[in-house]
Amino acid sequence: MPSVTEPLWEQERRYQGAASPVKVRVPAKINLHLGVGPLRDDGYHEVTTVYHAVSLYDEITARPAETLVLTMDGEGADQLALDETNLVIRAVQVLAEATGRPPHARLHLRKQIPLAAGLAGGSADAAATLVACDALWGTGLGREELASVAARLGSDVPFLVLGGTALGRGRGEQVSPVLAPGRAWHWVLALAEGGLSTPDVYRELDRLRAEDAAPPPAGSSDGILAALRQRDAAVLAASLVNDLQPAALSLRPSLRDTLDAGLAAGSLAGIVSGSGPTCVFLCRDAANADAVARALATSGTCRAVRTAVGPVPGARLG
Ligand code: C5P
Repeated sequence: MPSVTEPLWEQERRYQGAASPVKVRVPAKINLHLGVGPLRDDGYHEVTTVYHAVSLYDEITARPAETLVLTMDGEGADQLALDETNLVIRAVQVLAEATGRPPHARLHLRKQIPLAAGLAGGSADAAATLVACDALWGTGLGREELASVAARLGSDVPFLVLGGTALGRGRGEQVSPVLAPGRAWHWVLALAEGGLSTPDVYRELDRLRAEDAAPPPAGSSDGILAALRQRDAAVLAASLVNDLQPAALSLRPSLRDTLDAGLAAGSLAGIVSGSGPTCVFLCRDAANADAVARALATSGTCRAVRTAVGPVPGARLG
């Protein structure tokens, strides 16, 4: 299996000329720290974040074709449009434009990452599509080029190509790997009924800040980076911060019950993931995560529960 550190272009070299179909697996992301700064003129907020890829995966299979065909199954597949509003279709088009290829592929998307959940499921699918079509078409984009195409598709897409644990700046699209000592972190993800719109949550944060009902921006990611270096789950738990959490809770007050239930079940800490409504809980070890997952599953405060470990690699051929 490819490691977190194996460069994508090395893997692509291994897969050049591989017989079709091309299969790419891509993880969900959570944010260990999400510091949201001011609203910029382009409608985005300046962020400082620590991204963390966890082992909940979507999978894209790409085959050669004379047109562009997309089919889907799994989590929320029936709610996703199969037109240009779908980030998979956009990713094919943007890569085709960037490389001068016709946007042709037969794609099948198998989803486990829920939609509009704060786990970057759509961005993950876009990242997987870029890596899959790059391999299918043999375009062999370098790291810089791939990152710049990814950034055009969404703020989180470059991170989903990279994976692991990474610092994000700008609107989140400028990513650099965090070199922390190897250790697996154990998470429980509490999936909610229905989604939350990311723009709505950012807007709600602006509204709360305008009336001073949200704490000031969390500032730097230094606390998380130091905690990662210490490899101590209790220290990491104490450092988790999400500036979007008050806004997500304001739009979905019942998430407070989910957070309380995960803490009562024995997790070290719980936060809303990204713009929500998924809540993520850091656990001491695998056994602690299983116990927390079992308790949450019967708590009546969430739709479904998943356990996951991080960090894991980003979109990878497999
Ligand atoms: O980049 P992406 O398309 O995923 O962003 C979706 C929306 O989330 C943006 O249109 C914007 O409203 C909001 N957003 C933001 N600041 C960011 C990232 C996203 O306000 N840094």
